[in-house]
Amino acid sequence: MSANPRYAHVTGWGRYAPSQVLTNADLERMVDTSDEWIVSRTGIRERRVAAANETTASMAAVAAMRAIRTAGIEPDDIDLILLATLTPDYWMPSTAALVKEAIGNTRAAAMDVAAACSGFVYAYATAQAYITSGMAKHVLVIGAELLTRFLDYTDRNTCILFGDGAGAVVLSASDEPGGGLGIEMTTEPQGAYMIWLPAGGAKSPPSAGTIARGEHYIRMEGKETYRFATRTLATTALAAIRKAGLEPADIDLFIPHQANIRIIDAVAKGLDLPMTKMFVNLDRYGNTSAASVPMALAEAANSGRIKVGDMVVIVAFGAGFTSGAVAIRWTAEPARGVAGDAAVQPEDVTVRLPVDWDSVDPIPEALADLMARPGAVDPPLDDVVPGDQPTHANHQPGVQPDPHPDPQEAQA
Ligand code: ACO
Repeated sequence: MSANPRYAHVTGWGRYAPSQVLTNADLERMVDTSDEWIVSRTGIRERRVAAANETTASMAAVAAMRAIRTAGIEPDDIDLILLATLTPDYWMPSTAALVKEAIGNTRAAAMDVAAACSGFVYAYATAQAYITSGMAKHVLVIGAELLTRFLDYTDRNTCILFGDGAGAVVLSASDEPGGGLGIEMTTEPQGAYMIWLPAGGAKSPPSAGTIARGEHYIRMEGKETYRFATRTLATTALAAIRKAGLEPADIDLFIPHQANIRIIDAVAKGLDLPMTKMFVNLDRYGNTSAASVPMALAEAANSGRIKVGDMVVIVAFGAGFTSGAVAIRWTAEPARGVAGDAAVQPEDVTVRLPVDWDSVDPIPEALADLMARPGAVDPPLDDVVPGDQPTHANHQPGVQPDPHPDPQEAQA
Protein backbone atom coordinates (compact mmCIF):
# COMPACT_ATOMS: atom_id res chain seq x y z
CA MET A 1 0.00 0.00 0.00
CA SER A 2 1.22 3.51 -0.78
CA ALA A 3 2.34 5.89 1.99
CA ASN A 4 -0.72 8.05 1.32
CA PRO A 5 -3.51 5.59 0.57
CA ARG A 6 -6.27 7.22 -1.43
CA TYR A 7 -9.21 5.47 0.15
CA ALA A 8 -10.69 4.68 3.58
CA HIS A 9 -13.08 1.71 3.46
CA VAL A 10 -15.66 0.72 6.05
CA THR A 11 -14.32 -2.68 7.13
CA GLY A 12 -16.14 -3.10 10.46
CA TRP A 13 -19.39 -1.99 12.10
CA GLY A 14 -21.23 -2.75 15.31
CA ARG A 15 -23.86 -1.36 17.64
CA TYR A 16 -25.23 -1.70 21.13
CA ALA A 17 -28.59 -0.71 22.62
CA PRO A 18 -29.44 -1.08 26.31
CA SER A 19 -32.20 -3.56 27.09
CA GLN A 20 -34.71 -1.39 28.97
CA VAL A 21 -37.48 0.00 26.75
CA LEU A 22 -39.26 3.33 27.40
CA THR A 23 -42.53 3.33 25.44
CA ASN A 24 -44.85 6.18 24.53
CA ALA A 25 -47.32 4.65 26.98
CA ASP A 26 -44.70 5.09 29.74
CA LEU A 27 -44.29 8.75 28.77
CA GLU A 28 -48.07 9.25 28.85
CA ARG A 29 -47.80 8.61 32.59
CA MET A 30 -45.10 11.28 33.05
CA VAL A 31 -46.15 14.25 30.90
CA ASP A 32 -49.26 15.52 29.12
CA THR A 33 -48.75 13.64 25.85
CA SER A 34 -50.18 10.70 23.94
CA ASP A 35 -48.91 7.79 21.88
CA GLU A 36 -50.99 9.16 19.00
CA TRP A 37 -49.32 12.62 19.20
CA ILE A 38 -45.79 11.21 19.47
CA VAL A 39 -46.21 8.69 16.63
CA SER A 40 -47.95 11.11 14.25
CA ARG A 41 -45.54 14.05 14.95
CA THR A 42 -42.29 12.11 15.21
CA GLY A 43 -42.70 8.42 14.21
CA ILE A 44 -41.14 7.33 17.54
CA ARG A 45 -42.81 4.45 19.41
CA GLU A 46 -40.14 3.59 21.95
CA ARG A 47 -36.53 4.24 22.94
CA ARG A 48 -33.91 2.46 25.08
CA VAL A 49 -32.67 3.58 28.51
CA ALA A 50 -29.22 2.73 29.87
CA ALA A 51 -29.12 0.84 33.18
CA ALA A 52 -27.47 2.33 36.28
CA ASN A 53 -24.27 0.36 35.67
CA GLU A 54 -24.03 1.52 32.04
CA THR A 55 -22.30 4.64 30.79
CA THR A 56 -21.55 6.26 27.47
CA ALA A 57 -18.10 4.61 27.57
CA SER A 58 -19.46 1.14 28.36
CA MET A 59 -22.01 1.23 25.53
CA ALA A 60 -19.37 2.66 23.17
CA ALA A 61 -16.90 -0.08 24.09
CA VAL A 62 -19.37 -2.88 23.27
CA ALA A 63 -20.25 -1.33 19.88
CA ALA A 64 -16.53 -0.75 19.23
CA MET A 65 -15.54 -4.35 20.00
CA ARG A 66 -18.32 -5.59 17.71
CA ALA A 67 -17.00 -3.34 14.91
CA ILE A 68 -13.45 -4.62 15.49
CA ARG A 69 -14.63 -8.27 15.37
CA THR A 70 -16.59 -7.54 12.18
CA ALA A 71 -13.46 -6.04 10.63
CA GLY A 72 -11.50 -9.17 11.61
CA ILE A 73 -8.67 -7.17 13.19
CA GLU A 74 -7.32 -6.96 16.76
CA PRO A 75 -7.97 -4.00 19.09
CA ASP A 76 -4.26 -3.13 18.93
CA ASP A 77 -4.45 -2.70 15.16
CA ILE A 78 -6.41 0.54 15.77
CA ASP A 79 -4.23 3.68 15.41
CA LEU A 80 -6.80 6.32 16.36
CA ILE A 81 -10.07 6.30 18.32
CA LEU A 82 -12.59 9.09 17.65
CA LEU A 83 -15.70 9.13 19.83
CA ALA A 84 -18.55 11.49 18.97
CA THR A 85 -20.82 12.36 21.87
CA LEU A 86 -22.65 15.21 23.58
CA THR A 87 -23.04 13.11 26.73
CA PRO A 88 -19.48 12.15 27.77
CA ASP A 89 -19.02 10.25 31.03
CA TYR A 90 -16.91 13.14 32.39
CA TRP A 91 -15.71 16.55 31.24
CA MET A 92 -12.28 14.97 31.44
CA PRO A 93 -10.79 12.54 30.63
CA SER A 94 -12.28 12.00 27.22
CA THR A 95 -14.71 9.11 26.95
CA ALA A 96 -12.55 7.87 24.06
CA ALA A 97 -9.66 7.36 26.51
CA LEU A 98 -11.86 5.13 28.72
CA VAL A 99 -12.96 3.17 25.65
CA LYS A 100 -9.35 2.67 24.56
CA GLU A 101 -8.59 0.95 27.85
CA ALA A 102 -11.85 -1.04 27.84
CA ILE A 103 -11.20 -2.56 24.42
CA GLY A 104 -7.60 -3.41 25.31
CA ASN A 105 -5.87 -1.11 22.85
CA THR A 106 -2.35 0.03 23.85
CA ARG A 107 -1.33 2.10 20.83
CA ALA A 108 -4.03 4.47 19.66
CA ALA A 109 -4.45 8.19 20.25
CA ALA A 110 -7.99 8.74 21.52
CA MET A 111 -10.19 11.82 21.60
CA ASP A 112 -13.82 12.91 21.69
CA VAL A 113 -15.53 14.87 18.93
CA ALA A 114 -18.23 17.42 19.81
CA ALA A 115 -20.66 18.25 17.00
CA ALA A 116 -23.92 17.04 18.63
CA CYS A 117 -26.03 14.81 16.37
CA SER A 118 -23.67 15.41 13.44
CA GLY A 119 -20.75 14.21 15.58
CA PHE A 120 -20.42 10.76 14.07
CA VAL A 121 -20.33 12.14 10.52
CA TYR A 122 -17.76 14.76 11.56
CA ALA A 123 -15.67 12.03 13.23
CA TYR A 124 -15.99 9.82 10.14
CA ALA A 125 -14.71 12.67 7.95
CA THR A 126 -11.82 13.29 10.38
CA ALA A 127 -10.94 9.57 10.34
CA GLN A 128 -10.88 9.56 6.56
CA ALA A 129 -8.54 12.59 6.55
CA TYR A 130 -6.15 10.81 8.96
CA ILE A 131 -6.14 7.72 6.75
CA THR A 132 -5.70 9.42 3.39
CA SER A 133 -2.90 11.61 4.81
CA GLY A 134 -1.06 8.44 5.82
CA MET A 135 -1.27 9.18 9.57
CA ALA A 136 -3.40 6.15 10.43
CA LYS A 137 -4.19 2.76 8.91
CA HIS A 138 -7.19 1.70 10.99
CA VAL A 139 -9.42 4.27 12.75
CA LEU A 140 -12.22 3.35 15.14
CA VAL A 141 -15.09 5.86 14.83
CA ILE A 142 -17.79 5.69 17.50
CA GLY A 143 -21.03 7.55 18.16
CA ALA A 144 -22.37 6.96 21.69
CA GLU A 145 -24.94 8.77 23.80
CA LEU A 146 -26.61 8.48 27.16
CA LEU A 147 -29.21 11.19 26.66
CA THR A 148 -31.83 9.94 29.11
CA ARG A 149 -29.77 11.39 32.01
CA PHE A 150 -29.88 14.89 30.47
CA LEU A 151 -33.62 15.20 29.92
CA ASP A 152 -36.24 17.07 31.88
CA TYR A 153 -39.08 14.56 32.31
CA THR A 154 -41.50 17.44 32.87
CA ASP A 155 -40.73 18.97 29.44
CA ARG A 156 -42.85 17.20 26.84
CA ASN A 157 -41.07 19.06 24.02
CA THR A 158 -37.83 17.15 24.61
CA CYS A 159 -38.29 14.08 26.83
CA ILE A 160 -40.29 12.18 24.20
CA LEU A 161 -37.57 12.42 21.56
CA PHE A 162 -34.34 10.97 22.86
CA GLY A 163 -32.87 7.56 23.75
CA ASP A 164 -29.57 5.81 24.53
CA GLY A 165 -27.23 3.63 22.46
CA ALA A 166 -23.95 3.35 20.60
CA GLY A 167 -22.67 2.49 17.13
CA ALA A 168 -19.18 2.20 15.68
CA VAL A 169 -17.29 1.61 12.46
CA VAL A 170 -13.70 0.72 11.62
CA LEU A 171 -12.26 2.63 8.66
CA SER A 172 -9.22 1.03 7.00
CA ALA A 173 -6.68 2.36 4.49
CA SER A 174 -6.68 0.97 0.96
CA ASP A 175 -5.43 1.80 -2.54
CA GLU A 176 -8.53 0.14 -4.01
CA PRO A 177 -11.34 2.59 -4.87
CA GLY A 178 -14.17 2.60 -2.33
CA GLY A 179 -15.28 4.03 1.00
CA GLY A 180 -16.08 7.75 1.41
CA LEU A 181 -16.01 9.35 -2.05
CA GLY A 182 -17.71 12.67 -1.23
CA ILE A 183 -17.88 14.57 2.08
CA GLU A 184 -19.78 17.75 3.01
CA MET A 185 -19.90 19.45 6.42
CA THR A 186 -21.56 22.72 7.47
CA THR A 187 -21.76 24.78 10.69
CA GLU A 188 -24.31 27.58 11.11
CA PRO A 189 -23.75 29.24 14.51
CA GLN A 190 -26.83 31.46 14.22
CA GLY A 191 -28.66 28.34 15.46
CA ALA A 192 -26.36 27.97 18.49
CA TYR A 193 -29.08 28.52 21.08
CA MET A 194 -31.85 26.64 19.28
CA ILE A 195 -30.79 23.36 20.87
CA TRP A 196 -28.43 23.62 23.82
CA LEU A 197 -27.58 22.58 27.34
CA PRO A 198 -27.18 25.87 29.22
CA ALA A 199 -25.28 24.99 32.43
CA GLY A 200 -22.28 22.96 33.46
CA GLY A 201 -19.76 24.67 31.17
CA ALA A 202 -17.39 27.59 31.81
CA LYS A 203 -20.03 30.22 30.99
CA SER A 204 -22.43 28.85 33.57
CA PRO A 205 -20.70 26.50 36.01
CA PRO A 206 -22.94 24.06 37.88
CA SER A 207 -24.45 25.50 41.04
CA ALA A 208 -27.52 25.09 43.21
CA GLY A 209 -29.05 27.93 41.16
CA THR A 210 -28.45 26.34 37.74
CA ILE A 211 -29.85 23.06 39.03
CA ALA A 212 -32.91 24.74 40.56
CA ARG A 213 -33.59 26.34 37.16
CA GLY A 214 -33.15 22.99 35.35
CA GLU A 215 -30.33 24.40 33.23
CA HIS A 216 -28.52 21.04 33.24
CA TYR A 217 -31.15 19.64 30.86
CA ILE A 218 -31.33 19.81 27.07
CA ARG A 219 -33.44 22.72 25.78
CA MET A 220 -34.76 22.98 22.28
CA GLU A 221 -36.73 25.25 19.97
CA GLY A 222 -38.40 22.37 18.12
CA LYS A 223 -39.85 24.34 15.23
CA GLU A 224 -36.61 26.19 14.39
CA THR A 225 -34.62 22.97 14.63
CA TYR A 226 -37.16 21.24 12.41
CA ARG A 227 -36.91 24.01 9.82
CA PHE A 228 -33.11 23.84 9.78
CA ALA A 229 -33.15 20.05 9.53
CA THR A 230 -35.53 19.81 6.59
CA ARG A 231 -33.63 22.52 4.70
CA THR A 232 -30.11 21.34 5.39
CA LEU A 233 -30.27 17.53 5.30
CA ALA A 234 -31.20 17.45 1.62
CA THR A 235 -28.68 20.14 0.58
CA THR A 236 -25.83 18.59 2.61
CA ALA A 237 -26.54 15.11 1.23
CA LEU A 238 -26.76 16.50 -2.30
CA ALA A 239 -23.39 18.28 -1.95
CA ALA A 240 -21.68 15.06 -0.75
CA ILE A 241 -23.27 13.06 -3.58
CA ARG A 242 -22.16 15.60 -6.22
CA LYS A 243 -18.62 15.64 -4.77
CA ALA A 244 -18.61 11.88 -5.41
CA GLY A 245 -19.55 12.64 -9.04
CA LEU A 246 -23.02 11.17 -8.64
CA GLU A 247 -26.69 12.16 -8.55
CA PRO A 248 -29.30 11.21 -5.89
CA ALA A 249 -30.79 8.55 -8.20
CA ASP A 250 -27.40 6.73 -8.10
CA ILE A 251 -27.68 6.18 -4.32
CA ASP A 252 -28.91 2.79 -3.14
CA LEU A 253 -29.61 3.67 0.50
CA PHE A 254 -29.69 6.79 2.68
CA ILE A 255 -28.91 6.48 6.39
CA PRO A 256 -30.30 9.78 7.74
CA HIS A 257 -30.06 10.99 11.34
CA GLN A 258 -33.02 9.37 13.11
CA ALA A 259 -34.70 12.45 14.63
CA ASN A 260 -38.20 12.57 13.15
CA ILE A 261 -39.92 10.56 10.39
CA ARG A 262 -41.40 13.79 8.99
CA ILE A 263 -37.91 15.23 8.56
CA ILE A 264 -36.77 12.04 6.75
CA ASP A 265 -39.88 12.19 4.59
CA ALA A 266 -39.10 15.81 3.67
CA VAL A 267 -35.54 14.85 2.70
CA ALA A 268 -36.84 12.07 0.43
CA LYS A 269 -39.22 14.53 -1.22
CA GLY A 270 -36.46 17.17 -1.52
CA LEU A 271 -34.21 14.69 -3.33
CA ASP A 272 -37.13 13.26 -5.32
CA LEU A 273 -36.55 9.76 -3.93
CA PRO A 274 -38.96 7.12 -2.62
CA MET A 275 -39.05 6.47 1.15
CA THR A 276 -37.87 2.89 0.38
CA LYS A 277 -34.39 4.42 -0.10
CA MET A 278 -34.44 5.92 3.42
CA PHE A 279 -33.41 3.63 6.26
CA VAL A 280 -35.59 4.17 9.33
CA ASN A 281 -35.25 2.72 12.83
CA LEU A 282 -36.28 5.75 14.92
CA ASP A 283 -39.57 4.01 15.75
CA ARG A 284 -37.60 1.70 18.07
CA TYR A 285 -34.71 3.88 19.29
CA GLY A 286 -35.86 7.50 19.08
CA ASN A 287 -33.17 10.12 18.53
CA THR A 288 -29.85 8.81 19.87
CA SER A 289 -27.95 11.88 18.63
CA ALA A 290 -24.38 10.97 17.57
CA ALA A 291 -25.19 7.26 17.94
CA SER A 292 -28.13 7.41 15.56
CA VAL A 293 -26.30 7.15 12.21
CA PRO A 294 -23.82 4.38 13.17
CA MET A 295 -26.58 2.35 14.89
CA ALA A 296 -28.75 2.65 11.77
CA LEU A 297 -25.81 1.91 9.44
CA ALA A 298 -24.93 -1.28 11.33
CA GLU A 299 -28.56 -2.39 11.41
CA ALA A 300 -28.96 -1.70 7.67
CA ALA A 301 -25.86 -3.77 6.85
CA ASN A 302 -26.82 -6.65 9.16
CA SER A 303 -30.42 -6.80 7.93
CA GLY A 304 -29.45 -7.18 4.27
CA ARG A 305 -30.30 -3.64 3.18
CA ILE A 306 -26.72 -3.03 1.95
CA LYS A 307 -24.87 -5.10 -0.68
CA VAL A 308 -21.23 -5.02 -1.80
CA GLY A 309 -20.88 -2.24 -4.38
CA ASP A 310 -23.85 -0.21 -3.10
CA MET A 311 -23.63 3.58 -2.73
CA VAL A 312 -24.73 4.55 0.77
CA VAL A 313 -25.13 8.13 2.05
CA ILE A 314 -24.90 8.89 5.76
CA VAL A 315 -26.32 12.33 6.60
CA ALA A 316 -26.94 14.09 9.91
CA PHE A 317 -27.84 17.47 11.41
CA GLY A 318 -27.62 18.70 14.96
CA ALA A 319 -26.96 21.42 17.49
CA GLY A 320 -24.60 24.15 16.40
CA PHE A 321 -26.35 24.06 13.96
CA THR A 322 -24.17 21.44 12.29
CA SER A 323 -24.73 19.08 9.40
CA GLY A 324 -22.63 16.51 7.60
CA ALA A 325 -22.88 13.84 4.91
CA VAL A 326 -20.62 11.19 3.39
CA ALA A 327 -21.32 9.30 0.15
CA ILE A 328 -19.79 5.85 0.67
CA ARG A 329 -19.08 3.04 -1.78
CA TRP A 330 -19.69 -0.07 0.36
CA THR A 331 -17.06 -2.80 -0.16
CA ALA A 332 -17.30 -5.10 2.89
CA GLU A 333 -19.24 -8.37 3.05
CA PRO A 334 -22.40 -7.35 4.95
CA ALA A 335 -22.85 -10.79 6.57
CA ARG A 336 -19.70 -10.21 8.63
CA GLY A 337 -21.61 -7.81 10.89
CA VAL A 338 -24.00 -10.41 12.28
CA ALA A 339 -21.07 -12.56 13.38
CA GLY A 340 -19.30 -9.49 14.79
CA ASP A 341 -22.36 -8.59 16.88
CA ALA A 342 -22.71 -12.15 18.18
CA ALA A 343 -19.00 -12.36 19.09
CA VAL A 344 -19.18 -9.67 21.80
CA GLN A 345 -21.52 -9.60 24.80
CA PRO A 346 -21.86 -6.56 27.09
CA GLU A 347 -20.26 -8.44 30.00
CA ASP A 348 -17.13 -9.09 27.87
CA VAL A 349 -16.15 -5.40 28.12
CA THR A 350 -15.33 -3.52 31.34
CA VAL A 351 -14.77 0.20 31.78
CA ARG A 352 -12.50 0.92 34.76
CA LEU A 353 -14.11 3.01 37.49
CA PRO A 354 -12.38 5.59 39.69
CA VAL A 355 -10.96 4.36 43.01
CA ASP A 356 -12.56 5.51 46.29
CA TRP A 357 -15.28 7.48 44.59
CA ASP A 358 -18.96 6.73 44.70
CA SER A 359 -21.27 8.24 42.12
CA VAL A 360 -24.85 9.12 42.98
CA ASP A 361 -27.59 6.89 41.56
CA PRO A 362 -27.55 8.12 37.96
CA ILE A 363 -31.12 7.09 37.09
CA PRO A 364 -33.46 10.10 36.85
CA GLU A 365 -36.23 9.94 39.45
CA ALA A 366 -38.91 9.93 36.74
CA LEU A 367 -37.44 6.69 35.33
CA ALA A 368 -36.91 4.88 38.65
CA ASP A 369 -40.08 2.76 38.32
CA LEU A 370 -39.25 1.86 34.74
CA MET A 371 -35.73 0.75 35.64
CA ALA A 372 -37.04 -1.39 38.50
CA ARG A 373 -39.07 -3.55 36.16
CA PRO A 374 -37.47 -6.36 34.17
CA GLY A 375 -36.00 -5.38 30.83
CA ALA A 376 -35.95 -7.59 27.80
CA VAL A 377 -33.16 -10.14 28.21
CA ASP A 378 -30.72 -9.95 25.29
CA PRO A 379 -33.25 -8.10 23.12
CA PRO A 380 -32.76 -8.82 19.45
CA LEU A 381 -31.69 -5.52 17.91
CA ASP A 382 -33.78 -6.10 14.79
CA ASP A 383 -36.86 -7.17 16.64
CA VAL A 384 -39.49 -5.40 14.54
CA VAL A 385 -39.98 -4.38 10.96
CA PRO A 386 -39.95 -0.55 10.82
CA GLY A 387 -43.51 0.70 11.04
CA ASP A 388 -44.84 -2.43 12.75
CA GLN A 389 -46.07 -2.34 16.32
CA PRO A 390 -43.06 -3.30 18.47
CA THR A 391 -43.33 -6.35 20.72
CA HIS A 392 -41.10 -7.03 23.68
CA ALA A 393 -40.83 -9.46 26.52
CA ASN A 394 -42.08 -6.73 28.86
CA HIS A 395 -44.42 -5.03 26.42
CA GLN A 396 -46.79 -7.32 24.57
CA PRO A 397 -49.43 -5.97 22.21
CA GLY A 398 -52.65 -5.22 24.00
CA VAL A 399 -51.07 -5.75 27.41
CA GLN A 400 -50.15 -2.60 29.34
CA PRO A 401 -46.91 -3.20 31.24
CA ASP A 402 -47.40 -3.01 34.99
CA PRO A 403 -45.94 0.40 35.94
CA HIS A 404 -45.24 -0.77 39.50
CA PRO A 405 -44.19 -4.42 39.32
CA ASP A 406 -43.11 -6.27 42.41
CA PRO A 407 -39.31 -6.34 42.04
CA GLN A 408 -39.09 -9.65 43.90
CA GLU A 409 -41.59 -11.24 41.57
CA ALA A 410 -39.59 -9.84 38.68
CA GLN A 411 -36.41 -11.48 39.88
CA ALA A 412 -38.08 -14.84 40.49
N1 ACO B 1 -47.30 15.80 23.38
C1 ACO B 1 -48.43 16.48 23.10
N2 ACO B 1 -48.42 17.74 22.66
C2 ACO B 1 -47.23 18.34 22.48
C3 ACO B 1 -46.02 17.68 22.75
C4 ACO B 1 -46.08 16.36 23.22
N3 ACO B 1 -44.99 15.64 23.51
N4 ACO B 1 -45.00 18.52 22.47
C5 ACO B 1 -45.53 19.65 22.06
N5 ACO B 1 -46.90 19.55 22.04
C6 ACO B 1 -47.89 20.53 21.66
C7 ACO B 1 -47.34 21.93 21.69
O1 ACO B 1 -47.44 22.49 22.98
C8 ACO B 1 -48.27 22.63 20.72
O2 ACO B 1 -49.48 22.95 21.35
P1 ACO B 1 -50.22 24.34 21.07
O3 ACO B 1 -50.54 24.29 19.60
O4 ACO B 1 -51.41 24.27 21.97
O5 ACO B 1 -49.22 25.38 21.42
C9 ACO B 1 -48.58 21.54 19.68
O6 ACO B 1 -48.29 20.30 20.32
C10 ACO B 1 -47.75 21.66 18.44
O7 ACO B 1 -46.39 21.82 18.85
P2 ACO B 1 -45.24 22.03 17.80
O8 ACO B 1 -43.97 22.36 18.51
O9 ACO B 1 -45.73 22.97 16.73
O10 ACO B 1 -45.16 20.58 17.18
P3 ACO B 1 -44.35 20.12 15.93
O11 ACO B 1 -45.24 19.53 14.94
O12 ACO B 1 -43.37 21.18 15.50
O13 ACO B 1 -43.48 18.92 16.54
C11 ACO B 1 -41.27 18.39 17.33
C12 ACO B 1 -42.58 19.15 17.60
C13 ACO B 1 -41.58 16.91 17.25
C14 ACO B 1 -40.31 18.67 18.48
C15 ACO B 1 -40.70 18.89 15.97
O14 ACO B 1 -40.67 20.29 15.97
C16 ACO B 1 -39.31 18.37 15.73
O15 ACO B 1 -39.11 17.19 15.52
N6 ACO B 1 -38.31 19.27 15.69
C17 ACO B 1 -36.93 18.84 15.45
C18 ACO B 1 -36.34 18.38 16.75
C19 ACO B 1 -35.06 17.64 16.57
O16 ACO B 1 -34.89 16.93 15.61
N7 ACO B 1 -34.16 17.80 17.52
C20 ACO B 1 -32.93 17.09 17.53
C21 ACO B 1 -31.86 17.99 17.10
S1 ACO B 1 -30.43 17.12 16.92
C22 ACO B 1 -29.33 17.37 18.22
O17 ACO B 1 -28.29 17.91 17.99
C23 ACO B 1 -29.62 16.86 19.60
